[in-house]
Amino acid sequence: MSRREVEPRVEVLLDPDWASGSLVDDVRRGLGGRPRRLPPKWLYDDVGAGLFDEITRLPEYYPTEAERSILVEHAADIAAACDASTLVELGSGTSDKTRTLLDAFRSPERPHEPLHRFVPVDVSDATLRGAAATLSRRYPGLAVEAVVGDFTLHLGDLPRGDRRLVAFLGSTIGNFYLEERAAFLGALADSLEPGEWLLLGTDLVKDVDRLVAAYDDSAGVTERFIRNCLTVVNRELGADFDQGAFSYAPLWDARMQRVDMRLRAEEPQVVTVPGADLVVELATGEELCVEISTKFSIDGIGAELAEAGFAVTETWTDPAGDFAVTLARRT
Ligand code: AVJ
Repeated sequence: MSRREVEPRVEVLLDPDWASGSLVDDVRRGLGGRPRRLPPKWLYDDVGAGLFDEITRLPEYYPTEAERSILVEHAADIAAACDASTLVELGSGTSDKTRTLLDAFRSPERPHEPLHRFVPVDVSDATLRGAAATLSRRYPGLAVEAVVGDFTLHLGDLPRGDRRLVAFLGSTIGNFYLEERAAFLGALADSLEPGEWLLLGTDLVKDVDRLVAAYDDSAGVTERFIRNCLTVVNRELGADFDQGAFSYAPLWDARMQRVDMRLRAEEPQVVTVPGADLVVELATGEELCVEISTKFSIDGIGAELAEAGFAVTETWTDPAGDFAVTLARRT
């Protein structure tokens, strides 16, 4: 062990009951209302996280590789354009792509003081601890201050000081509904000081066939991923959803510019959800909206960021123009 190695700090902002409590609320509000919705964060139990990992390696699912290629190609440009000394990553997971950024932000060639602190934020305690330990070992002298938290709840509680860059990659922002997205960007801007930074990854609008194929892969992995929400609600809340009574029905919503991943009732049915004190009657053809994946345009991103209080510094895309990484500054 090198003497400069510092143990990662882990701050836990989620109370242990958070998952079950907010699942009940989400299911009551979502399944009780119209259109019927289940929020996508409940897709990522251990099985769901494994399926998502498989999705990122599907031939039809281009976003992961497109974003990775942009970061590899332009990390040095990003690190030169941005004078941050702390990197915060929202939904950091295993922090794979982060290494590309950390290498560039700590390179002696960078024309700013070296980045000296990394703050990964994730809801998964175990994933975060693993990633924090690996990164501390790999980057001696880097202070790793991990936060177990929900980036829709804990933006105001992130460590302050230094000039921070908040990275929100993977087009996870596309999971928010329009109103939620504006609220999220506004809250993020409020949590930053003028002059602090945002690095945002967004999937771009493209040929509809390719967009739909990315969420309707021939191996059926995305369908299993989406169906997993029924398994989660059955297990956690004692519900009696029958997988066989639903079909997977993804569609492109041209007006909202998003792929909608839905489960459609194939027969009339009554589902009981004891843990949420709920009975849901579904007619044939009724749909549960499980996840959306909004697609963006470069101009649209600039406008939404401006509305929230950010000014775009620079945008990078892959050669095919499939994906964008945008650096913006809190005004
Ligand atoms: C992790 C939200 C970016 O929307 O592309 C992939 C999730 N769902 N396939 C996406 C997802 C089904 C993914 N994000």
